[in-house]
Amino acid sequence: MNLHASMGPKELEDRYELPVYPRRDLVLVKGKGARLYDAQGREYIDCAANVGVSNIGHANEEVARAIYDQYLTLGNCYGMFYNPVRARLAEKIISLGPPRLKRVFFCNSGAEAAEAALKFARASTGKAGIIAAMRGFHGKTFGALAATWGEEYQKPFVPMMPGVKHVPFNNFQKLAEAVSGETAAVILEPVQGEGGVRVGDRAYFQQVRKLCDEKGVLLIFDEVQTGFGRTGTLFACEQFVEPDMLCVAKSLAGGVPMGAVLCSDAVKVPVKSHTSTFGGNPLACAAALASLEVIVRDRLPERARTLGEYFLAGLRAIKSEKIREARGLGLMLGIELKEKAGSYVQQLAEKGVIVLLAGATVIRLLPPLVIAREEIDTVLSALREVLA
Ligand SMILES: Cc1ncc(COP(=O)(O)O)c(C=O)c1O
Repeated sequence: MNLHASMGPKELEDRYELPVYPRRDLVLVKGKGARLYDAQGREYIDCAANVGVSNIGHANEEVARAIYDQYLTLGNCYGMFYNPVRARLAEKIISLGPPRLKRVFFCNSGAEAAEAALKFARASTGKAGIIAAMRGFHGKTFGALAATWGEEYQKPFVPMMPGVKHVPFNNFQKLAEAVSGETAAVILEPVQGEGGVRVGDRAYFQQVRKLCDEKGVLLIFDEVQTGFGRTGTLFACEQFVEPDMLCVAKSLAGGVPMGAVLCSDAVKVPVKSHTSTFGGNPLACAAALASLEVIVRDRLPERARTLGEYFLAGLRAIKSEKIREARGLGLMLGIELKEKAGSYVQQLAEKGVIVLLAGATVIRLLPPLVIAREEIDTVLSALREVLA
């Protein structure tokens, strides 16, 4: 029985949930493809994709069927037992990932993937130091949080896990100066998402890769947001360098919670030292297999590349005094304004377009990769109108 039948979802959530999310005044009830619908039946073009989760679009029927069938077959199977669906996904993801990465650890979220990678780096090297980037984002569990940049996130929870140094992103000299005999790993996003949609240079990553090889330091790429076609290749690292560990989550399982760390042979972790009850559960694995099938078969990375170029050209053609820069890679795009961007997010929602922020001044666009060119045109006109 609904105890407060007269209260709507907003009132109920505000009343009963811990208020940790900066809420928008929008009740979303349904999605299909690149469209979302609110409680009044109003339609929106989704340029947020649940912060990069819904790369294959909402309500994909193949993934839905895979989840349904798997739940009725075997929904859970702790990692101490072998399972054929998990086995197939492990083989599949390793076959699709960079050749250097030979094994996978399954978990349930992006923070858990980053957390695991940091622990694996310490266990594998016997060293404690972690170098991360300013404006980097790796999640909010204690280890991941220590690598995430920003007082806003860290301050309420000090002291942080020791051993983490932050250096400016895309500045090889500063990173090289921070590496010491105590450094276990460098953790970087190939394109910083939360930090403002900032694309690292290939030359930078190549220098970092070389330095890590020389110094016996593991290179971790956090592709929780850039993974699964978002930047125009299945993994963004294909456009840069091969890491020793690749953290993924978000769109791995078509919207079902799942994370993973793909690891090179340099990663060695003792039995029992890091496990997870739900890690690699057959339900998420079945969803991931179905979702990967869609991504590869429908060539969504190529689609992200082509549509991303079109979208970025459209953004750069907007004539507005308010825009400082439009940038991005594939369908991971940002419009940096000369002023705070918050009010434009609201105005765009009123015009039927849902976007994200990345910091105070950047409008971030992460549409499902199945978005149509005509939908992009509609988003561009809405942006032109609000930024005029
Ligand atoms: C690059 C990156 N790493 C890690 C995370 C954390 O993922 P989750 O929210 O699933 O813990 C995010 C989330 O936005 C992210 O963008």
